[in-house]
Amino acid sequence: MTNAQKWVALFLVVFILLFVLLKITRKEESGGNMNYSAYEENAVTLMQNQKCFQCHGSKLTGTEKGPSLVGIRKYWSRDALINYLRNPTSYASDARFEEYKKQYKEFMPSYEEVDTKALGKIADYILSLPAK
Ligand code: HEC
Repeated sequence: MTNAQKWVALFLVVFILLFVLLKITRKEESGGNMNYSAYEENAVTLMQNQKCFQCHGSKLTGTEKGPSLVGIRKYWSRDALINYLRNPTSYASDARFEEYKKQYKEFMPSYEEVDTKALGKIADYILSLPAK
């Protein structure tokens, strides 16, 4: 092999390696089903931005401003929960919410302006909390 041929061969090997690496990392990023921790982190960041933890507690076990969200999954389907976050007052007639009304000075704010996909992530996260 001449020197020039060696350089071409080296270049080709590096190129192929880069290409393969790119393929592997792409697959991990866009796998459709995000791994659980990436997904959880996302919901937590969203909830931090929306101040959910300020009223529901850093572990979502409740504060004097809002009830615990741990174990509420037995009450909600994913869709109902997303609807609730968008329009909490529509559930105010439920017996559980009658109690909440007496117990908490402030109401659960409406998150109508938040992207539905983001609310879906938050809902999935709440539904993934232990059943108490
Ligand atoms: C200002 C305080 C406050 C903030 C901020 C807040 N909540 Fe609430 N949340 C409440 C109160 C109070 C209730 C009880 C219902 C009521 O009185 O409106 C409640 C109720 C709920 C419920 C229903 C609980 C059940 O028993 O089914 C869910 C779910 C919920 N909040 C999720 C969230 C999420 C998610 C966020 C952030 C996107 C959030 N909350 C932000 C105060 C708050």
